[in-house]
Amino acid sequence: MSTLSRLCVVALYIAVGSARASDLHALWDGQCGGCHGHAGDFARQALDLRDGVVFGRASGQKLDDFLVRHNGGYSPAQIAALADMLVGQMGRGPEFRTHCGGCHDNAAQLVRDWVVRRDGVLVGLASGQALTDFLHRHGGADEVSRTQIIESLNQIETEINHR
Ligand code: HEC
Ligand code: HEC
Repeated sequence: MSTLSRLCVVALYIAVGSARASDLHALWDGQCGGCHGHAGDFARQALDLRDGVVFGRASGQKLDDFLVRHNGGYSPAQIAALADMLVGQMGRGPEFRTHCGGCHDNAAQLVRDWVVRRDGVLVGLASGQALTDFLHRHGGADEVSRTQIIESLNQIETEINHR
């Protein structure tokens, strides 16, 4: 293959790759979770948010600066995406684990396997029902927790299909 056609193949590969959605929770599980465990626990225990900026609690360093060097360094796109996800996790309580975790491993996997977004609303794949309806009869969470869980699932759905 000539250098030019090789370059074309690479350019095409990059274009296709960047147009595809990426799964931030899978990125965490693949790149970070092996050492740091569950992203939500890590975010709540190891990070601080001050004026919209994320800091590592132990080092006091900005997350963005830290990740440029951590384990040989992550790309700017990965760092920005992971930072968004971790900020989301910091604001979430343990409602999912309390009410749903006994039967569903984690929220990200539940959304991958069982949930789609239709007309902007999260819908269960098997029932075809909006989660706002489905969860009235399923999971046993009270209204306040249910609202928080649905909010979390909405954010997680965008993180799994991140563009
Ligand atoms: C091979 C194991 C390993 C992997 C993989 C790993 N880390 Fe770490 N990480 C550590 C260890 C050990 C520390 C604590 C020592 C240090 O500061 O380097 C740490 C520290 C951190 C801290 C610092 C907290 C503070 O107080 O400053 C952050 C943030 C962090 N990791 C995020 C990540 C993210 C995000 C990923 C994935 C993109 C990741 N790590 C992947 C082992 C790992
Ligand atoms: C006692 C076990 C149990 C608990 C607790 C539970 N689930 Fe489920 N869930 C299941 C099972 C089993 C299924 C598989 C489908 C079915 O049998 O209806 C399911 C299916 C689902 C689906 C797919 C619905 C569809 O239409 O396809 C969603 C979404 C869901 N659960 C969300 C939740 C949430 C959110 C919570 C917490 C508020 C929760 N579940 C708590 C057992 C549970």
